Amino acid sequence: MTTDNDVEEAAALRAAMVCELRDQGACQSERVAAAFAAVPRHLFTPGESLKVAYAVDIAPIVKRGDNGLTISSVSAPHLQATMLEAADIKPGMRVCEVGSGGYNAALLAELVGDGGHVTTVDIDPEIVERARTFLNEAGYDRVDVMRADAEEGVPDAAPFDRIIVTAGSWDIPPAWIDQLADDGRIVVPLRLKGTTRWIAFDRDGSGLVSRSYGLCVFVPFQGAGSHTERTVTIEDGVVLRLDDENLKVNGDALRRASHLPRIERWSGVVFDMPDEQALFLLTNASDMALLYADQEAVDRELIARPALKGVPALIGSDSFAYRAARPNDDMSSGYESGVYAHGPSAENLAARYTDLLHRWADKYHRRGAASIRYLPEPADPPALSSGVIAKRHGTVVITWP
Ligand SMILES: C[S@@+](CC[C@H](N)C(=O)[O-])C[C@H]1O[C@@H](n2cnc3c(N)ncnc32)[C@H](O)[C@@H]1O
Repeated sequence: MTTDNDVEEAAALRAAMVCELRDQGACQSERVAAAFAAVPRHLFTPGESLKVAYAVDIAPIVKRGDNGLTISSVSAPHLQATMLEAADIKPGMRVCEVGSGGYNAALLAELVGDGGHVTTVDIDPEIVERARTFLNEAGYDRVDVMRADAEEGVPDAAPFDRIIVTAGSWDIPPAWIDQLADDGRIVVPLRLKGTTRWIAFDRDGSGLVSRSYGLCVFVPFQGAGSHTERTVTIEDGVVLRLDDENLKVNGDALRRASHLPRIERWSGVVFDMPDEQALFLLTNASDMALLYADQEAVDRELIARPALKGVPALIGSDSFAYRAARPNDDMSSGYESGVYAHGPSAENLAARYTDLLHRWADKYHRRGAASIRYLPEPADPPALSSGVIAKRHGTVVITWP
């Protein structure tokens, strides 16, 4: 039962959330801040405490798959705010949200106003039912909630001025580009080299070009557009994630390398924007993959801590090298970038890695330095160059102008 105290506490927590989103820079415009101030988020997160509902960085889990992994959540406010700002939604627009929860659709409804329209689509009937119920209860019954595999978009409600995707997508299905208005924008969390970046894309001829992007984590896209990433296990709890089917990886040789003593080399390059630096590393060497280790592998001192969250790694035939960071008072952030390397060719890989760190620091040490294009034709022949990623329907080309 909701008491007057609960309502007051929710209002206070909502106001505090908006302040924090502004302070963080996630909310930059009055319009987005007003939407967050208006929608009672706790009505979309039943079963969670009010504190959790209004925490800027918590994405309450709604549903897990048979393997225990999360397949639906209410996204964290800071990420929703960031993506809504990137989408630049104006009153009167027609918007499609891929992946429903209700809350983000309510924010969208606030942003487009009575003259606009929001369609939200989810593949999972339970999530659709839930979103519909919560939206109605919160007074947003004008939002259309549909059940469908969004791989085909929502042709009946198209064209859209904005498409906001809220599941980690391997590719951009042709339907999304077809259903986007000529001056439309699509904001999509796209899998790139083992990591996910939300990218705000505008039309560029028959393809798309990025306006802004940032690191994020999302539940995976299901259905016809789902994708199983290529992984190579090096040791128990140590895995490489690769985009490139053609990159040769000798797992046995790398396992042997992982048991050889590591060398470490330091670059003199500040460690302050790990996500931007990682995107540069991953897209400037065709033999770079993402190295992950679990806590047990770190505790066994097989691989160092940076690999817990995934770290770019140069992969040789018998050796590998990955990014490290150490405290350094001479650096503005207090940390310096470096490299750990294992195997007979460790010295050579570490030198190449350090060279990449210097190239990034000299020319691209800022946010948003990359330009990301989506070409709606598959790469022919299959792309191998470092900044070109072959997808199912098209090709992602990342350049550093
Ligand atoms: C992070 S949740 C959405 C959160 C929601 N936008 C909110 O208000 O915070 C991602 C959703 O994407 C849905 N999804 C995954 N694959 C899909 C597909 N092919 N078509 C439509 N929905 C999909 C999942 O069922 C899940 O509910």
